[in-house]
Amino acid sequence: MFSFRLVFLALALVSVRGATVSTETKQFVTLDIINGPVAPDGFTRVAVLANGTFPGPPIVATKGQTLVVKVNNKLTNETMRVSTSINFEGIFIDSKNIFNEGSSFVTTCPFGPGESYTYTLPLGNQTGSFWYHGQLAQQQSDGLMGTLIVYDPEHPLAHLYDIDDANTILTVSDWLHTDSKTALAGYIATQTNPVPDCGLFNGKGRFNGGPQVEYAAVSVAQGKRYRFRLFNIGFRSNFVVSIDNHTMTIIEADGVATEPNEVNILTIHAGQRYSFVVNANQPVGNYWINAFINGGTKNSNLNSTLSRGILRYAGAPAEEPQTPMTAGPQGAAAVALKEADLVPLNPIPAPEPDFNMTFTTFMPEGVTKWEINNVSYIPPSVPTLVKALNGETSPDDFNVTENTFLFPMNKTVQIEFKDPINEGHPFHLHGMNFWVVKSNSSDVINTVNPIRRDVVITGNNTVIIRFRTDKPGPWPFHCHILYHFAVGLGSVIGAGLDEVKKTVHPTQAWEELCPAYNALPPNDQ
Ligand SMILES: *[C@@H]1O[C@H](CO)[C@@H](O)[C@H](O)[C@H]1NC(C)=O
Ligand SMILES: *[C@@H]1O[C@H](CO)[C@@H](O)[C@H](O)[C@H]1NC(C)=O
Ligand SMILES: *[C@@H]1O[C@H](CO)[C@@H](O)[C@H](O)[C@H]1NC(C)=O
Ligand SMILES: *[C@@H]1O[C@H](CO)[C@@H](O)[C@H](O)[C@H]1NC(C)=O
Ligand SMILES: *[C@@H]1O[C@H](CO)[C@@H](O)[C@H](O)[C@H]1NC(C)=O
Ligand SMILES: *[C@@H]1O[C@H](CO)[C@@H](O)[C@H](O)[C@H]1NC(C)=O
Ligand SMILES: *[C@@H]1O[C@H](CO)[C@@H](O)[C@H](O)[C@H]1NC(C)=O
Ligand SMILES: *[C@@H]1O[C@H](CO)[C@@H](O)[C@H](O)[C@H]1NC(C)=O
Ligand SMILES: *[C@@H]1O[C@H](CO)[C@@H](O)[C@H](O)[C@H]1NC(C)=O
Ligand SMILES: *[C@@H]1O[C@H](CO)[C@@H](O)[C@H](O)[C@H]1NC(C)=O
Ligand SMILES: *[C@@H]1O[C@H](CO)[C@@H](O)[C@H](O)[C@H]1NC(C)=O
Repeated sequence: MFSFRLVFLALALVSVRGATVSTETKQFVTLDIINGPVAPDGFTRVAVLANGTFPGPPIVATKGQTLVVKVNNKLTNETMRVSTSINFEGIFIDSKNIFNEGSSFVTTCPFGPGESYTYTLPLGNQTGSFWYHGQLAQQQSDGLMGTLIVYDPEHPLAHLYDIDDANTILTVSDWLHTDSKTALAGYIATQTNPVPDCGLFNGKGRFNGGPQVEYAAVSVAQGKRYRFRLFNIGFRSNFVVSIDNHTMTIIEADGVATEPNEVNILTIHAGQRYSFVVNANQPVGNYWINAFINGGTKNSNLNSTLSRGILRYAGAPAEEPQTPMTAGPQGAAAVALKEADLVPLNPIPAPEPDFNMTFTTFMPEGVTKWEINNVSYIPPSVPTLVKALNGETSPDDFNVTENTFLFPMNKTVQIEFKDPINEGHPFHLHGMNFWVVKSNSSDVINTVNPIRRDVVITGNNTVIIRFRTDKPGPWPFHCHILYHFAVGLGSVIGAGLDEVKKTVHPTQAWEELCPAYNALPPNDQ
């Protein structure tokens, strides 16, 4: 072990199961946010893109590094938002750095075209699969997103796989042919959630009547074991993923290493991530990776069967599998992932709650408005963090529509979700994860070794989570269906806001964001 560390320090780059990672203290990354045309499904539209691609380039770092991401806003097309702000989803940001958390009007103001902002994020001991996306209005569904991986050179389950590199990053996402402002206006006018035009696997897909875009192929070599990292970076849909003739051994959920759990089909909700090991132990050939999109049926473009990719063995011809396109194993053949079966590799019992809350999600009739406990979230014009830094930390300092729930420091909060119509909201908590003491997938309450994650799906079977308020600050907590969030399905967990002034010391660059943003003409915001 000593000699390994020596090598590790001597070289700035090391290879970990195929991925070349830096071991410098800081990982510097630049992202240029631009408007440009893309055609992931063969239909060309102008989008908001990190470095001009969809998805944006993966950001990779190594355990213990500080990630320093300089974002240059080069947006020009005012049919979409031209200000921006980036959230690094799933990263455990400590209080001291909460001002670099990137959530517009909660922890920051966005920044306008022609401006740059640098996010500094110490990663501590956290490792796993995360992602980044625009967190201003619905900018994410205009294409601004990418994956973020923190490699662990000494991963406790590394003996289970041979390869974990750029080629093992898998994304699923839904895609709209319209820009997000048009999509939102349509939602409000018709009360019909924007239904995607296409489901994409690794940024490629087909829709009814569209061109035969070449499916993304993932190369494997027979006899090797691959750690695939699957990200749902979409704005709404869940995807049911399977690989013909192969099993998937799950070893990570949302950055938390799990006991190996073998399945042959899994559902991944918006914002969630899984790592699973696939053994390329089948005859050399091409196999379908089925990524059936559950995106609604009210858009005749969308054909769920057509979202898929190809697992291609070295030596197989560069062609599509000859087998039928299916939705994966069904009925008795299906060994489906049950969230409640996931056990962390390092289980931590869920603490007893100090506060119990119920979140009832509800859409009143006749208006396009989602509510939590009858309140629809409206982002304030002064970010919650700015208020807390100004000492405005009592309940009276927040409008009802800020849906800001205040808790003292160092407490355990339990939230029970009521989703009687089984809408299935993927709720995401920023800056930390939570214990899923009761999953929709089970009737059992588990406080002993429950999975911890940062996006949980609600349903008509009660879901109960618990989290700690150990980090002072306002932490966004919202539905990851972007258009639900847009019409109110959001809240803020105000953890020990009284402590914020003592703990959080933002930089001058951050202090200048709100005055600069507020001075922009509306079209540049
Ligand atoms: C994005 O593009 C810039 C400019 O070309 C480049 O310096 C940077 O490395 C790219 N970022 C990533 C994460 O690839
Ligand atoms: C700006 O984006 C819209 C779509 O939102 C597109 O129709 C238009 O062509 C774009 N303008 C330019 C100059 O690219
Ligand atoms: C990381 O883990 C090490 C060893 O368990 C511990 O000593 C250290 O305090 C941890 N660092 C952080 C930032 O949590
Ligand atoms: C893949 O599985 C199907 C049925 O599950 C079987 O019919 C087929 O022969 C298998 N393909 C290979 C290459 O083993
Ligand atoms: C979806 O695509 C498949 C494969 O091309 C086709 O067989 C099926 O009819 C399509 N479904 C719909 C509803 O259009
Ligand atoms: C919260 O609910 C749990 C049951 O889930 C109960 O044991 C506990 O006493 C409640 N705590 C408070 C503070 O109401
Ligand atoms: C929300 O409002 C409805 C009436 O619109 C009422 O029946 C219900 O009890 C309220 N729910 C909560 C959690 O306040
Ligand atoms: C404050 O909340 C009320 C409803 O409770 C709403 O009508 C009003 O628009 C809100 N004001 C702001 C500034 O958000
Ligand atoms: C919260 O817990 C931390 C670590 O245990 C401790 O340093 C801090 O004083 C506590 N804060 C409050 C307000 O209890
Ligand atoms: C929640 O679980 C129930 C009971 O198993 C199931 O019928 C329902 O479809 C699930 N909801 C979601 C959103 O997965
Ligand atoms: C939950 O929703 C599922 C799917 O809509 C339905 O089959 C089931 O009966 C519902 N369960 C309850 C308890 O309402």
